[in-house]
Amino acid sequence: MKGKRENWGSSFGFILAAAGSAVGLGNIWKFPYIAGENGGAAFIVVYLISILLIGIPIFISELIIGRKSQLNVVGAYKKLSNNSPFWSIVGYMGIFTAFVILSYYNVVAGWSIGYFFEGLKGTFNDFTTVELASNYFGNQTSSTFWIISWQLIFVALSVYVVFSGVRKGIEKYSKLLMPILLIILIFLAVWGSSLKGGSAGLAFLFKPNWGSINGKVILIALGHAFFTLSLGMGAIITYGSYFSKDDNILTSALWVVFLDTFIAIVAGIAIFTSVFSMGFNPADGPGLIFNILPTVFNKMPGGNIFGILFFLLLSIAALTSAVSLLEVITSYFVDNKNYSRHRVVIISAFITFLIGIPSAMSFGLLKDYQIFQKSFFDIMDFLSANILLPGGGLLIAIFIGWKYGYKKSLDALESGSNEWFKSNIFFAFLGKKVPAKKLSIGNVWFIFIRFIAPVLITLVFLKSIGII
Ligand code: PFF
Repeated sequence: MKGKRENWGSSFGFILAAAGSAVGLGNIWKFPYIAGENGGAAFIVVYLISILLIGIPIFISELIIGRKSQLNVVGAYKKLSNNSPFWSIVGYMGIFTAFVILSYYNVVAGWSIGYFFEGLKGTFNDFTTVELASNYFGNQTSSTFWIISWQLIFVALSVYVVFSGVRKGIEKYSKLLMPILLIILIFLAVWGSSLKGGSAGLAFLFKPNWGSINGKVILIALGHAFFTLSLGMGAIITYGSYFSKDDNILTSALWVVFLDTFIAIVAGIAIFTSVFSMGFNPADGPGLIFNILPTVFNKMPGGNIFGILFFLLLSIAALTSAVSLLEVITSYFVDNKNYSRHRVVIISAFITFLIGIPSAMSFGLLKDYQIFQKSFFDIMDFLSANILLPGGGLLIAIFIGWKYGYKKSLDALESGSNEWFKSNIFFAFLGKKVPAKKLSIGNVWFIFIRFIAPVLITLVFLKSIGII
């Protein structure tokens, strides 16, 4: 029942959908709290360098693999490697990673829908101090019923969106909702910066203290670069498979990376100006935004409405990301196993719900069950963001740089690209037309993917385990 593979309605549709995948809990919930735990500005510098040197080249590579093969992650590796069993396993690893991430992603997304309803009930009106807000958050997340119900509701919503398919589901919702989210975040950042004491938050975000950097911090920053851009497991391969050959890979990739990074920084400003203006601890962990922002809303005129809108949009941002994870799994079973889309979506979403239950309970009943001082939730997060995604990214770089090779990769990249792509980047920059023999954008990209990205990822892995 293969039919014709759907395409995005336009490049713009792809950019918004891929930005919908990239922008999610990673930017608004996770980035501020891990930046807070790992020293602020210096961590952010490492994260930005990772995006630039590793994230962008790999993003382009995933789009190439997806567009060239027009297949799901497993099929794509299989086809482009001429059926190599090793590369098929790398594809399956992507599907495994999607399950791991979704399992705990659903939980946090559930908290945010739960908080949307708390806003509607007027709960934020009671949060006159951050302590009151934190106690409330602690109570809610330790209630098994509260947490699992919202987790289930979130899973059901993502099933609904994936049901509707690529254009009518994913693309339509992303187009509508992403811009509203951006506007509200910018407003919060401006508001936070005007608060008394807010400038300490800006200093925390932008003045690096290099002493806080070590191997573990670098690994977390690199892992987050992958997580936030949805890289390393085939989400962008899968979205790229709905790309047409007239779409411009390079500019689409740059747009998505720019939007994602911009939104994370704006979210960081919104949150840290508020954290510091209230004299709160930036290393508060996963509850950070749930403790801080409702207290800020409480103090703002009309804040309750803002709070409601904020958690609604956060839930939607989470939804467009969860949908891309679910699409990785779905497209594999639909392409390869001839199962109906509806059946696959329901079954796989339900499995992610089940394996997410221990993560959901990590803040309540299972709080004391820890391995290496990590709860089940933390383990799923660490395993996926800091091991599976950078590991998957390393393999993608090796695949394009060494297996698929220069000629085919460059041909694939050039299709749909514009003229300046082929000219010498330095001369193009100076406005002169010098035909590129060696230093075209494509060649520079290839050097990054063949040498720089794999070497850097390997070094970060070695440093994080103390070998160098
Ligand atoms: N990029 C998403 C976020 O920042 O919330 C999370 C994510 C989505 C990770 C899709 C990986 C993925 F394939």
